[in-house]
Amino acid sequence: MIQVTELGYMGLGVSDLAAWKQYSAEMLALEVVDAGAKRAFLRTDYWHHRLMLEEDGSDDLTVLGFRVAGPEEFRAMQRQLSDGGVGFKAGTSAEAADRHVLELIKLEDPSGIPIEIFHGPHVEYDRPFHPGRRMHGRFKTGDGGLGHCIIRHAGLAPTYEFYRLLGMRGSVEYRIPTPGPSPFEIMFMHCNERDHTVAFGLPSEKRINHLMLEYEHFDDVGLTYEVVSASKTYPVAISPGRHANDQMYSFYFMNPSGFMCEVGWGARPATHQSEYYARDSYGHKPQAGVVEPGMRPVKAAAE
Ligand SMILES: [Fe+2]
Repeated sequence: MIQVTELGYMGLGVSDLAAWKQYSAEMLALEVVDAGAKRAFLRTDYWHHRLMLEEDGSDDLTVLGFRVAGPEEFRAMQRQLSDGGVGFKAGTSAEAADRHVLELIKLEDPSGIPIEIFHGPHVEYDRPFHPGRRMHGRFKTGDGGLGHCIIRHAGLAPTYEFYRLLGMRGSVEYRIPTPGPSPFEIMFMHCNERDHTVAFGLPSEKRINHLMLEYEHFDDVGLTYEVVSASKTYPVAISPGRHANDQMYSFYFMNPSGFMCEVGWGARPATHQSEYYARDSYGHKPQAGVVEPGMRPVKAAAE
C-alpha cells in the first residue's frame, strides 16, 4: 500500500489577516512571510512554508496537504485512490507552483475537507528559519511533518476508510465515559513516527478543532504559556497537561479564527499498535467559558 508520509502543509482562511500575522509571530513564534495584501505564509523550518493564510473571511481550514515520497508514489497513490473508488483532480502546474510543490492532486475527505496530495516541496536551505519572536529551541517537524490536527468528520467509519486509503493507520484511542450509555470515542491516525497526524470524533461546526505544533524545547511551551497568558486577547482554552496517547505535554489556546492552537513538547513516537485510554495522564482541563468539556469552543457552540 502506498502511504502518505506526512502532513506537509495546511491552508487557513481568515477574516483578519493582520491579527493572524501578529498572533503567528508573537504567540506561536512562527516566521511570517508576506505574500501580498490578502495572503501570508508561515514557516517552521527550511520549507518554503508550512501554513498559508488567505484573507477570505471563512475563519476555517481551507486545505490539508499530505506528502508522498516521490513521482512513483504519486502515480501509485492515484491508482490506489481510483481502485478505492475515491475521485480526485490533477492539479495544474500553476496550482503546484502556487503551493511550491512539484505536483499535486486535489480531492475531498468524507466531510468535505479539501485535501491535496503532493510530492516535492520547495525546501530552502539558503533561508534558515527565523522565528517571529524569541525561542529556546525550534519547531519539531522533520519526519513527523508539520504537526497534527483534529478535524470535523462525517462518521468515524467512513472517515477511517478514507484516511486508511491514504495509507494511514490508527484506531479509537480515547473511549471516554459519559453519563449516558455509550462512551465518547475519538479516533487517531498516523503516517509516520508522530503519534497522530489527523484525529476525529469531536463535534465541530468548523472543519478544524485544533492545530498542534510541537516544540523541541520544553521551555518553549512555558514561554508560550507566559506570552499567551499576558496577552489577554487569546485565552488559554485547555490547561497544561500530558496526553495519554502521544504523551505530549501541551496546552491549548484560542486563535483569531475561533478555533484552538495546541503547542507541546516531549511526545513519544507512534506505538504502531492500538491502545485506548479513558482519560489523560494529568491536567488538560477545559477552561470554563472558553471551551466545553467536549473541546468545542463556547463561542462556536453559542452561534
Ligand atoms: Fe492535539
